[in-house]
Amino acid sequence: MSEGSRPIVFVSRQLPPHVEARLTRDYEARLNAEDALYDTDALIAGAQGAQALLVCPTDRVSAEVIEQLPDSIVAITTFSVGYDHVDVAAATKRGITVTNTPDVLTNATADMAMLLLLGAARQARAGEAMVREATWTAWAPTGLLGTEVSGKRLGILGMGRIGRSVAQRARGFDMEIHYQDVVRSPDDEDAGAHYHETVESLLRVSSFLTVHCPLIPETRHLLNAERIALLPDGAVLVNAARGDIVDDEALIAAVKSGKVAAIGLDVYEGEPNLNPGYRTLENSFLMPHLGSATVETRDAMGFTALDNLDAIFAGNTPPNKVN
Ligand code: DGY
Repeated sequence: MSEGSRPIVFVSRQLPPHVEARLTRDYEARLNAEDALYDTDALIAGAQGAQALLVCPTDRVSAEVIEQLPDSIVAITTFSVGYDHVDVAAATKRGITVTNTPDVLTNATADMAMLLLLGAARQARAGEAMVREATWTAWAPTGLLGTEVSGKRLGILGMGRIGRSVAQRARGFDMEIHYQDVVRSPDDEDAGAHYHETVESLLRVSSFLTVHCPLIPETRHLLNAERIALLPDGAVLVNAARGDIVDDEALIAAVKSGKVAAIGLDVYEGEPNLNPGYRTLENSFLMPHLGSATVETRDAMGFTALDNLDAIFAGNTPPNKVN
């Protein structure tokens, strides 16, 4: 270690001010004041001589990057719960510890799922545009009719922390909760929720479907044309997890055909370069990956990332080690 003998942390994005204040208090932080998006070469160059990388979901920390990191790197901590952008196997092979930031973004992300659900179900995008663009002429008995959420079935694909938090909120809207996960929740957690052994079984009953599983090889394009066809006609689908879980062409075709009545998306395959087909759909409520975007949550994510680094440099196991 140089630069004053504190660990050197290369930080790939600009972080909230309180997080950067703690970072610079405790580490030799190489900050990204311009908030530039770094490519493979820039990540490798920035890591030279550093002990840790603090990365974000916008970074592709691929095997190619990890193989070229200097031997000084002992940790990659991501400012996110999802770590599909980090090749964890490649990091493990090099003895690099990888950590993430679970728990602290559960509420904010569950709130986003409810916003998407209500926004899609109630034509929020079209209504907002009508007011903003001055095309609203009069209240109309048949104008912009949405679909009621009360009393409807909500299918939760992935009943982890965020899925459970969505279930808690949706119960407040009198929704009937169904879910599928690789493991059944303990009784106290799935009180009143109906477990499905298979994704297909869940889809058949989901008038509303919300996606909360992680992106892993098994879930990439899990929601393909065949599975989307299993949804009840006129279903509403929302995704605040990862875009790659959905086959975009299949979903866009299902919305165009009316099979899926409306969608609410916060995440996209290849974001921010989403499939342009989404932009032209009338009944889509689209957000730019804002699930965890609250002041409180982003601070908490940063502090959790730093807690992980603090533990590593104190010689302890970090609280959120993923490998
Ligand atoms: C995460 O933490 O994985 C989220 O997608 C960021 O909002």
